[in-house]
Amino acid sequence: MAIREIVLEPNEVLHQVAEEVKEITPAIRKLLTDMADTMYDADGVGLAAPQVGILKRIIVIDVGDDNGLIEMINPEIIASEGEQFGPEGCLSIPGYRGDVRRANQVTVKGLNRKGKEITITGTELLARAFQHEIDHLNGILYTELAENYYEIPPEEEEQFEQEQEQQATNEKKE
Ligand code: NI
Repeated sequence: MAIREIVLEPNEVLHQVAEEVKEITPAIRKLLTDMADTMYDADGVGLAAPQVGILKRIIVIDVGDDNGLIEMINPEIIASEGEQFGPEGCLSIPGYRGDVRRANQVTVKGLNRKGKEITITGTELLARAFQHEIDHLNGILYTELAENYYEIPPEEEEQFEQEQEQQATNEKKE
């Protein structure tokens, strides 16, 4: 288990466009593993490679649903529909939150760690996580999209996490 340091805003690396992965090397597979370790350690639901200082198009997501850990290389949104509006946070901007309008459902295509093409459709929290993490690969932070953006008291942070878990549980039931 290797936890990498999460880059915090302000940092130029968070505002740059990440490069496509041309070849899945052992270093890329190690990066995927480390990114998941780092995300779980920080109690996050998603992490993009620029957040550990690496400008490559790689994301990991786990919203606690049946998909479990999603590792995706060169992810691309190929379809989106509907709309949702709700709170979002980011591991690179601890202690803050903002309400962001997102598509309610997205279909994302990319490669897994074996180089096999995978396509995943997600709604609600998973759709939000995909859009948030893919934005990171394009140097876009949610704060640029948020309709309101505010500092959260530490005691509310825990409640926010519980709400996200609840949302993931509700999706499972649907
Ligand atoms: Ni983020």
